[in-house]
Amino acid sequence: MSRPQRVIHVGIGVFGRRWCGEFLKSNVDDGTIEVAAIVDIDPAALERGRAALGLPAERCYTDAKEAFARTPADFCTIAVQPVHHEAIVDLAIAHGLDILCEKPIADTMEATNRIARKVAAAGRRMAVTMSHRFDQDKTTLRRVVRSGVLGRINAIGMRFHGDMRQHMAWSSRFRHEMADPLLIEGSIHHLDIVADLAGSRCRTLYATTWRPDWAEYRGDTDGIVTLHFDNGVRAVYEGSVSHPVGLNTFYKEYIRVDGERGSAILAHRDVEVFVRQDFWRQQHREGQGQKIAPLAQPKWINHWLIEQFARWRDGGPPMETRVEENVQASALVFAAIESSRSGAPVDVQRLVAGG
Ligand SMILES: NC(=O)c1ccc[n+]([C@@H]2O[C@H](COP(=O)([O-])OP(=O)(O)OC[C@H]3O[C@@H](n4cnc5c(N)ncnc54)[C@H](O)[C@@H]3O)[C@@H](O)[C@H]2O)c1
Repeated sequence: MSRPQRVIHVGIGVFGRRWCGEFLKSNVDDGTIEVAAIVDIDPAALERGRAALGLPAERCYTDAKEAFARTPADFCTIAVQPVHHEAIVDLAIAHGLDILCEKPIADTMEATNRIARKVAAAGRRMAVTMSHRFDQDKTTLRRVVRSGVLGRINAIGMRFHGDMRQHMAWSSRFRHEMADPLLIEGSIHHLDIVADLAGSRCRTLYATTWRPDWAEYRGDTDGIVTLHFDNGVRAVYEGSVSHPVGLNTFYKEYIRVDGERGSAILAHRDVEVFVRQDFWRQQHREGQGQKIAPLAQPKWINHWLIEQFARWRDGGPPMETRVEENVQASALVFAAIESSRSGAPVDVQRLVAGG
């Protein structure tokens, strides 16, 4: 790659701290990027980001407008709450910057489609950090599925069970105050992973979501989603952030992919494979399959996605999570919300088309 690409980073809350201390930093250290400016409306948060990145005070701003106006840059990274993503996207477009944004693209399907249209009209690049799909364990499972060893994929099951029922247990206040925290803040990753493993667009989805009375949230914390993909794959997803014991929390989810000739299981980051033999009525037991060694590479999750974005800007392959593709992940979430409200299955592509 040529010179380090100049980045304006916006949002240094709970996850933004990881951006400054880990994701941006590793990419500064290896010369992929340099941080031209950081922004947070909260001066204390800004100071934490400044210290983590070792920036001079004059490159730290409490006003995004001022930061964008004063700082020559190549792209911006956005880690503010979803409801505020669009305002920062607008600023980036106005200043001719590309955009790497935290998931989800926005907090409604209307804003999601609007952002995708604006980015296309401006001819800018925008991608979304679907961190978990690009983690080591999920990438290893994906490699197994794509290798063909399971044959044609038939069905997928995924479980996410986190114990975050107490107020503020899910890190940031907004999740406890918003509608649909499970789907918008958690399942966006999981439904995206399921769709990626299915290898096809989702046609129809049915969901039911609820909030058990022990969950200290305003919106629904629990849900079950069934999905039917264009290529015939069916999937079921169970999610909860009010689970009693956190059996499969973030980074330790359970995924089972069943094909014509085999099954692959990811549980607590370990991948195992069971391949059908030519015997009568087989029975196997989880935990006793063929263990698959995790893929090895220097960067995972957002460390890797920042590098992918810089390479794309430098003429490399377009990112898989570019906004025009990633609207599919948002459509899964907003279709699930609509289905849970109406009690009826939802045509997912209608939402992508803006209907
Ligand atoms: N990819 C992942 O695994 C992952 C994990 C956690 C959070 N996230 C995403 O990261 C984003 C932020 O989440 P969080 O938990 O850090 O939220 P948070 O509420 O802890 O932090 C948000 C920060 O943005 C700042 N902010 C808000 N509006 C601003 C503006 N206009 N200009 C500058 N700063 C502004 C706030 O002051 C706050 O410090 C969300 O989109 C969330 O979904 C992604």
